[in-house]
Amino acid sequence: MENAFAAAASADGVFIQPRKFAFRDLESAPQYWFANNPILTHIENAFSILIPPGERFFIRAVRNYADRVTDPVVADRVRAFVQQEGLHMRAHNELNASFKRFGTDVERETVYAESVFAWIEKWVPKRIQLGMTAFLEHITATGAHTLFMEPAVAAAMHPELLRFWRWHAVEELEHKSVAYDLFRDTGGGYLLRVLSAIVAVALLAHPFNRIARRMIKADPRRVTRDDLQAARRMHRKAIPPQLRLIAQYFRPGFHPDEFDDRHFLAEWYAAPAL
Ligand SMILES: [Fe+2]
Ligand SMILES: [Fe+2]
Repeated sequence: MENAFAAAASADGVFIQPRKFAFRDLESAPQYWFANNPILTHIENAFSILIPPGERFFIRAVRNYADRVTDPVVADRVRAFVQQEGLHMRAHNELNASFKRFGTDVERETVYAESVFAWIEKWVPKRIQLGMTAFLEHITATGAHTLFMEPAVAAAMHPELLRFWRWHAVEELEHKSVAYDLFRDTGGGYLLRVLSAIVAVALLAHPFNRIARRMIKADPRRVTRDDLQAARRMHRKAIPPQLRLIAQYFRPGFHPDEFDDRHFLAEWYAAPAL
């Protein structure tokens, strides 16, 4: 696919390249596209519902501070970050709308997700909003890392959804340090960084849980003991390594680029499936 967006140079030879993604065959994806499991699928779908308002929030949080940096390289990274997140929002909106065909009340969940971020934008100081963005970008980067690192996770996804999540994952890895660097370079220190991460968890864990639970409950298919056990097995594989990566964020000297994801990026660049 032709690409109209310029890449921005990031650390260690990584480029932030915004790319348009096109679903090829979303209609044929099954309802339970993740491991044929309603729990796992609804959890991922709940995450996807939060992504468009979440990424809009990230873009605004970064833009609040972008004019404080005069370095043209940083400005260009911010530009590419904003473009990537804008394209992710668009693709996730398309994915989320597709859940309607299975009876999911996408409208209700989207309105709720938007209200959560609107509340945060209204009441949380802008500096903390940028700190939250830096932390949530770390969370998405560790999720991306897990998708590439744990073959069982990728193998359990329907190919169309895997292609989609891998595209998003690659771009998250490319821009993972943009918000962090902006937070730090505009005066955000360690304590505020940790406080912002705690605020992010305190304000977003419950809405995420609520959306996932509501989607599971609204689904006429009853969750079986097998579904539960299979979901637990998958989580045991995917969550502990991700939590270990997330925990690194709380070290004083942490920087997102210390996780070298370039081999994952190279693997995808060799056969980019857009
Ligand atoms: Fe994104
Ligand atoms: Fe991101």
